[in-house]
Amino acid sequence: TKGGYDFYMLKEIAEQPQAVADTLLSRFPDLSLDEVRKVVIIACGTAYHAGMIAGYAIEQWARIPCDVELASEFRYKDPILDASTLVIAISQSGETMDTLMALRHAKAQGARVLAICNTNGSTIPRESDAVLYTHGGPEIAVASTKAFLTQLVACYQVGLRLGAARGFSHADVTAALRAVPDQLRALLTRTDEIRELAYDLATARQVLFIGRHVGYPVALEGALKLKELAYMHAEGFAAGELKHGPIALIDEGTPVICVLPAPGDPLHGKVVSNIQEVRARGARTIVIAEEGDETIVPFADDVIRVPVTPALLAPLMTTVPMQILACEIAAARGHDVDQPRNLAKSVTVE
Ligand code: M6R
Repeated sequence: TKGGYDFYMLKEIAEQPQAVADTLLSRFPDLSLDEVRKVVIIACGTAYHAGMIAGYAIEQWARIPCDVELASEFRYKDPILDASTLVIAISQSGETMDTLMALRHAKAQGARVLAICNTNGSTIPRESDAVLYTHGGPEIAVASTKAFLTQLVACYQVGLRLGAARGFSHADVTAALRAVPDQLRALLTRTDEIRELAYDLATARQVLFIGRHVGYPVALEGALKLKELAYMHAEGFAAGELKHGPIALIDEGTPVICVLPAPGDPLHGKVVSNIQEVRARGARTIVIAEEGDETIVPFADDVIRVPVTPALLAPLMTTVPMQILACEIAAARGHDVDQPRNLAKSVTVE
């Protein structure tokens, strides 16, 4: 049942603190990481966005090169893989055909495959060499929410383990991860402003999302949610790319959702200038910013606050307002939030 919520999606958004806490306790599989020279992540849709974020974390924490590939494209580039490659297949359902075919290709090339999966005993974990389960519980809504956050947590654990295998310790990150469930609980108690904003944005012709570094996949995820639920034109961009083309999309009143790094981050100033650039072209800037960051106030039409966490973990916070926004905009437009048109929960065809 929906447990008192209007939609499964809202219920699943609300379950995220517990899902993250449970996934933090997930049993790490018996898998030797000492010989890993390269990591390749394969996934689709939202799981691919989790993989993109994982790529930043793995390279930063373990200093191992990491490629992130759309599972549906993977085989066609004839990827270079061998026994020193760790392939990570991320899938909520464990049944996504594109991911499964990519996994089989990787195994045939001699790579070892680690699945990150939410569904016990499904095909992808069964065909992998090892599995790290996410503990999101059943996800009913077609739009993935708690699966995404738990995939991130599992990916972070892999990144930390890979780092540890190479002698790096990231005790600060481990401590910060432990604080995430409570921070998410706090974040989820103040969603009223997002609901009001959703009402405003429901009539927009298009909504753009910008971010940099891990904020870029978050922007892609925000746009994907809005496309699939609200059937609106939505695009995510790496903010630095704006001037190379997409800024031409902006006219008077275009909503631009901006993912701002923390004030101490080397990219903070750059994203602030990107926000000023779009605003100068008439954009309505909606900024997702860390609590206490006042620098953005003069350039933001709306500010959505998220709790303080290390840069690489920030997607655990910044994604949540986007999920709520997409859900509420879709509801305001009168759509079936849990069963959007043309989509299935699990895509079992190539
Ligand atoms: O079950 P999977 O994680 O393999 O599914 C992958 C995608 O089909 C899925 O994330 C899809 O993009 C969601 N509907 C997005 O909300």
